[in-house]
Amino acid sequence: MKDKIIPLGKMKIKNNIKVFKCPICESSMEIVEYNSLRCKKNHCFDLSKNGYINFLLHNVKTEYNRSMLESRNIICKSGFFTPLIKKISEIITLQQIKSSNKINILDIGCGEGSHLSQIIENISNGSISYEGIGIDISKDGIHIASREYKECIWCVGDLTKNPFKNQSFDIILDVLSPSNYAEFNRILKKNGLLIKVVPGSNYLRELRDAFYNETEKETYSNERVINHFKKNYQLLSTHSLEYKAPIDKTNLEHLISMTPLSWKVSQERIQQVLHSDIQEISVEFTILLGQKSND
Ligand SMILES: C[S@@+](CC[C@H](N)C(=O)[O-])C[C@H]1O[C@@H](n2cnc3c(N)ncnc32)[C@H](O)[C@@H]1O
Ligand SMILES: [Zn+2]
Repeated sequence: MKDKIIPLGKMKIKNNIKVFKCPICESSMEIVEYNSLRCKKNHCFDLSKNGYINFLLHNVKTEYNRSMLESRNIICKSGFFTPLIKKISEIITLQQIKSSNKINILDIGCGEGSHLSQIIENISNGSISYEGIGIDISKDGIHIASREYKECIWCVGDLTKNPFKNQSFDIILDVLSPSNYAEFNRILKKNGLLIKVVPGSNYLRELRDAFYNETEKETYSNERVINHFKKNYQLLSTHSLEYKAPIDKTNLEHLISMTPLSWKVSQERIQQVLHSDIQEISVEFTILLGQKSND
């Protein structure tokens, strides 16, 4: 009989089974014939063909759908976020993490998975072993992640009710996604790190300017998010990053499709922007590095 080839993602789930807990009864999980994860009370969660696990207890309707996340995947692959990914990779490599065997990194609200995959690739140097796990509530996002990036573990799940055991992760990445600090603290190891990326007021400025007129325009400030972070974490450092990303016509269309900024904008206005002569886009982020307070 021909040997069945087991996808790398499924092998990785088996090797890291200890980080998972049942989201219903919280007991430990085991992998059953590389087809599902099952807990001691027989709650069962399927593995997809590409090896992602769906931990959602019911279907969740999200605006982060297939076409939006395919566009986000194209924009990520175009290098639009490369300076950000490089900066996060540098921040991670500069940390002196004391971990017994390998460093577990969780990307929370990972979308279509490009950021985590590229960061793991950048920081892998042979002497330290990193394990990347991504979770997102959008099944479409995780479908793309597991199709494109085989070297990480991908889960569909809710970041407010994670299917992970206490103190499982050395680092949590939260890139432009919602936070739940009580959950983050629960699953971070002692002295674990949180890297949170928030947009600056110039992020996608050209689209904001083109989509909204003066009266509609909201000036975005990330101050409230940063203050909330500081209340929950010991802030180790703050990094500001600002650059212009070149954009061609095709990618402008994908950029508009991938951003929630366009959700409430009329087709007419979107068409006007597509026919404008925008050739570069402003990108601005604040990266917060925090350490879990262990009190
Ligand atoms: C702006 S996107 C950022 C995605 C990715 N981090 C990136 O930078 O490309 C926000 C993401 O958060 C996810 N999200 C929102 N609420 C969530 C929740 N409760 N649990 C898990 N993911 C969630 C969305 O599905 C979406 O993929
Ligand atoms: Zn269970």
